[in-house]
Amino acid sequence: MAEHRSGQWYSGTDRNAYIHRAWMRRGLPAHAFDGRPHIAIANTASDLTPCNAHLNEVAESVKEGVYEAGGIPLNLPVVSLGETLVRPTAMLWRNMAAMAIEEMLRANPIDGVVLLGGCDKTIPALLMAAASVNLPAVVIPGGPMLTGTFRGQPLGCGTDVWRLSEEVRAGTLTEAQFLQSESSMIRSRGHCNTMGTASTMGLLTETLGMVLPGLAGTPAADSRLLERSHETGRLAVEMVAERRTPSSLLTRGSFLNAIVALAAIGGSTNAVVHLLAIAGRLGIDLKQDDFDATGAGVPLLVDLQPSGRFLMEDFFRAGGLHAVLREVRDLLDPTALTVTGKPLVDHLADGQIWDREVIRPRDEPLQPHAGIAVIYGNLAPDGAVIKPAAASPHLLRHRGRAVVFDSIEDMHARIDDPDLDVDADSILVMRGCGPRGYPGMPEVANMPLPAKLLRQGVRDMVRICDGRMSGTAYGTVVLHVTPEAAAGGPLALLRTGDFVILDVAARRLDIDIPADELAARSPDEATVNAYAKPLRGWERLYVETVQQANTGADLDFLVGSTGDTVSRESH
Ligand code: FES
Repeated sequence: MAEHRSGQWYSGTDRNAYIHRAWMRRGLPAHAFDGRPHIAIANTASDLTPCNAHLNEVAESVKEGVYEAGGIPLNLPVVSLGETLVRPTAMLWRNMAAMAIEEMLRANPIDGVVLLGGCDKTIPALLMAAASVNLPAVVIPGGPMLTGTFRGQPLGCGTDVWRLSEEVRAGTLTEAQFLQSESSMIRSRGHCNTMGTASTMGLLTETLGMVLPGLAGTPAADSRLLERSHETGRLAVEMVAERRTPSSLLTRGSFLNAIVALAAIGGSTNAVVHLLAIAGRLGIDLKQDDFDATGAGVPLLVDLQPSGRFLMEDFFRAGGLHAVLREVRDLLDPTALTVTGKPLVDHLADGQIWDREVIRPRDEPLQPHAGIAVIYGNLAPDGAVIKPAAASPHLLRHRGRAVVFDSIEDMHARIDDPDLDVDADSILVMRGCGPRGYPGMPEVANMPLPAKLLRQGVRDMVRICDGRMSGTAYGTVVLHVTPEAAAGGPLALLRTGDFVILDVAARRLDIDIPADELAARSPDEATVNAYAKPLRGWERLYVETVQQANTGADLDFLVGSTGDTVSRESH
């Protein structure tokens, strides 16, 4: 049998092998170095990433599984990102986390890795890193939290924060009532329990084939998560023996399967940038247009917040991911493999819908066509995205007068100004929120509606932004406008008072002015002054090298893979 990679450090009788073994022998027996696989547990547990705080317990179950199968488990704490806490936005640090994890996986004497993630950016960062190192790797999504309730009603984590805060601004909920709900919002360990980014990425990662089939969506507090984590530890040892690496499993077909699942579950728009970035690490030809071409014909089968009614605990009870995938089995690539070495479709036989309110059968969909629409026009030459399922149908074709904000600070300062010249037909536009401009492409595209319109009963308006939107948010929001304003996009040329035409059916987004007039414009000084101009550190590296949203917003020099080889020794 070929020697494991860790043998490059541990085998032999020379001084270097001695040093590597001796420093690791703090409880490890001599036979830990007899050629058994060393499995890292890349662990994003952190008290400051509360959605992942329980992953240390998950890691213990993984360890037991690894030991049981004859491997050596090694806890590897890695950069973690708490979506609600880190400033200026967790997305600024996704690529940094991916880069740091990639380098530590490559630098250390390991043969395979179990990736523990949950909160929004953690699974994408782990997958991007693992794809670039290409060691056998399997993901454990930490799972959603249980459903909290407030005044007898379920509370959707994230989604109901937006709803309740809008109610306060509209004057239909008191501030005291709003604050009362705070202690009910988070009922247990786990990540957000709507079909937000964390839930979406957990389910899509299993659809890609990178999770033990049947695990994704298991609530964090459910004892089956630990049981399946134990099994995942065993599987990691098997994967090393079989040399099942990300590049040997993932194909374009795997990503198209994920796009089918994204549409069927009504998942987060953030999945677009994350899947593009992961595919980029593998050299897989995936384009933003694939999300529209593949996803547009897929029916929406899952009635979950933010666009629907239920929450992830209901989804799991109703049959979970396999029940959904079984309904769209004919749309899946039957050759796409999973970490088990078998095709995804072979694992769907047990999929069954137990609650047809939560998961709809194919012939009774919530919407016949779901997915994410990719739209183009003179306002978005390289594309923008909109999730029609989360939008108001009457606004999907709309011509309105733009009210333009140069930054999130500008928007906050003026949105509730009683003198702001805005009505229900206006289109709210915010720029300076792209990868470069902010920097980091924050989740601000679903900007709040002006208080005076809320009081009139307005609950949705067309909004356009070069930033992202929280996966727990909803509304008629055009986001990821590319190129962003700070990268020279025409969004920088738009002025308050211009008319903008959105036509989702025609996949168009245009400023309604003559082309020569638009070409003669240049951005205002205030617009340019709002862009970030970092002088040092990660932010500077990021702004100088980040790509646009339509290709995944990775750093240009991180696209692709360099494998697991490190040719030089430290001693
Ligand atoms: Fe962590 Fe929503 S804040 S998943």
